[in-house]
Amino acid sequence: VMSVRPLVAGNWKMNGSRSALKELSAMAEGYDAGLKAKVDLMICPPAPLVFLAAAAAIGTRIAIGGQDCHTEASGAFTGEVSAEMLADSGAGAVIVGHSERRQYFKESDALVAAKAAAAIRAGLAAIVCVGETREEREAGKALSVVGRQVARSVPEDATPETIIVAYEPVWAIGTGLTPTAADVAEVHALIRKKLVSRHGKQAAGIRILYGGSVKPANAKELMAVENVDGALVGGASLKAADFLAIAAAY
Ligand code: G3P
Repeated sequence: VMSVRPLVAGNWKMNGSRSALKELSAMAEGYDAGLKAKVDLMICPPAPLVFLAAAAAIGTRIAIGGQDCHTEASGAFTGEVSAEMLADSGAGAVIVGHSERRQYFKESDALVAAKAAAAIRAGLAAIVCVGETREEREAGKALSVVGRQVARSVPEDATPETIIVAYEPVWAIGTGLTPTAADVAEVHALIRKKLVSRHGKQAAGIRILYGGSVKPANAKELMAVENVDGALVGGASLKAADFLAIAAAY
């Protein structure tokens, strides 16, 4: 089994203000040599904070990411932010295809794949999110839904440097509910298998994050699951103490 350096990434969603950057500073202070030896950290703030967060993160080894990007580099797309703009602001990555984007903004797998490709073109890593709804899980379709999303949303030229996959069961997001370790293991194994069959042996090094109600209290159990190479954390990434406690699960 190839060992992959884990990543704990925080998705601030539409939360945070300039004053929230003090949490980022506190994260940097708590990101000590022991943690640095074991785990990468990333924070994805809302777009207006990316530049300031990236400036604040210089020298801290905390990476900064965006939460979405357009497929084009520039142009007449009022209100949109391109991957190139995120890169220019100091981001190293961008989340694409979060279930909130798929649900509220009707993003398709094809659009998510195009956004991931745009991210790679701009020199960013794309964190491609997949995950089934409650109805899909209850109907026994979790594996087929996630397998299809991975096949259609991850661009063909995916490498461990350019693509990170995040498995976020929709019903676990912001609900306090989490799948069992066995269910997480089953889905992550399926994702790994799909990645290796589509992108070759090197895909063993693509990080597969788990997301959905990751908290300090459950991080150890979730992060110990095979093929879980880190976490994508929502609510618990807004406070430095919680975020660092999750990272310390490694
Ligand atoms: O992208 C992370 C997210 O969707 C999980 O949110 O608040 O359940 O950790 P939360």
